[in-house]
Amino acid sequence: LVRGEGVWVYTADGERLLDVYNNVPHVGHAHAAVVEAIARQARLIASNTRYLDERIIEYVERLTATFPPDLDACLFVNSGSEANDIAWRIAKSHTGHGGTLVMQFAYHGITDAVTALSPAISTVDAPHVAQLAAPAQSADAASTARAARTASADLTARASQAEQAEVDTATAIDRLKARGFGLAALMIDSALTSTGIYDPPPSWVAPIASAVRNLGALIIADEVQFGLGRSGTDFWGFKHRGYHPDIVTLGKPVGNGYPMGVVVTRRAILEKFQRDTGFFSTFGGNPVAGAAGLAVLDVLERERLMENARTTGDYFIAKLRELAPKHAAIKDVRGRGLMIGVEVTDRVLTKQLVNDLRDRGVLIGSEGPRGNVLKLRPPMPFRPEHADAVVDALAKALSAAGS
Ligand SMILES: Cc1ncc(COP(=O)(O)O)c(C=O)c1O
Repeated sequence: LVRGEGVWVYTADGERLLDVYNNVPHVGHAHAAVVEAIARQARLIASNTRYLDERIIEYVERLTATFPPDLDACLFVNSGSEANDIAWRIAKSHTGHGGTLVMQFAYHGITDAVTALSPAISTVDAPHVAQLAAPAQSADAASTARAARTASADLTARASQAEQAEVDTATAIDRLKARGFGLAALMIDSALTSTGIYDPPPSWVAPIASAVRNLGALIIADEVQFGLGRSGTDFWGFKHRGYHPDIVTLGKPVGNGYPMGVVVTRRAILEKFQRDTGFFSTFGGNPVAGAAGLAVLDVLERERLMENARTTGDYFIAKLRELAPKHAAIKDVRGRGLMIGVEVTDRVLTKQLVNDLRDRGVLIGSEGPRGNVLKLRPPMPFRPEHADAVVDALAKALSAAGS
């Protein structure tokens, strides 16, 4: 790829591909307002963060205004992995414990500490990490309820989701205890992306959050995937999911391609961490990062991209659900806003579909412990006509695969 524009990317030989994979260019590839803000600031001063700069102060004020009032302080780094690494260090020093809960097949980044919290890539089962089951059982129950289309079936499905989560959390905490670890934190990607892209109701997370709270442990919301309006209904995924975190971590989309990571938490927590560690990141929160972050917030607001994620996401999901009965290989269509998972029969078919779609000019990804969930996560300016193009290409790819 040599160039990007909006939801499109271009190859060296001029082929145009629809980017339905990428949440880094959140407000669109090469958005002129972001590019200009970065260039303008780079022409003025690009330094390390030993020098104060108004840009980053303004960004902190704008960013924290989008959070619940107690989450009022930021620390800046350069990636989602670094943000999660710091969040994990804070949780351990705040609680004096070393155990953590993560979701099944979660992914939180690449540092040594955070890899251990990422069953999606970790090759060893770290004793201080216990996994919570994906709401898969309950998603099945929810789709059964949807099929039954009765309010009481829906209520039963929700109740069983909550019960499953409660039992599962208690078991995981006991497992940590048996290995000698008290609980420091729950780290959770609000979109449950690598876990398989689920959209359980707040009643699913409520018993998990309260078990964590009862032990005085911290909740770390990893918003690298779902943040900045991707759910379409809420600016932050944790709000959509229905829980209140102590620490929020941001990455990929915040700088629209400019490398940025942010840890948002309560001022008292951050001040203690600073006192204890004298934390300093050379590039984290540099003036160019501040300019990029501000421009992204401006564009999101000006172009009403969260609203677009809701309306286009609803349209996209409805179209995919219309397609499902025509292809036996589609097992489920789920997600919210512009974070959509299409579960298909198996990993082999998933790979075949991803590659076939690429040949038809559409880039998508795959997720889930069984590698059988098509991941549709485009830049936010994705419109209904783009959704139509994807559904059309997917229908042809499924037919070509005999599915
Ligand atoms: C949920 C989640 N958290 C953290 C990360 C790590 O971010 P980065 O690759 O910017 O370090 C990722 C990257 O894919 C992610 O998906």
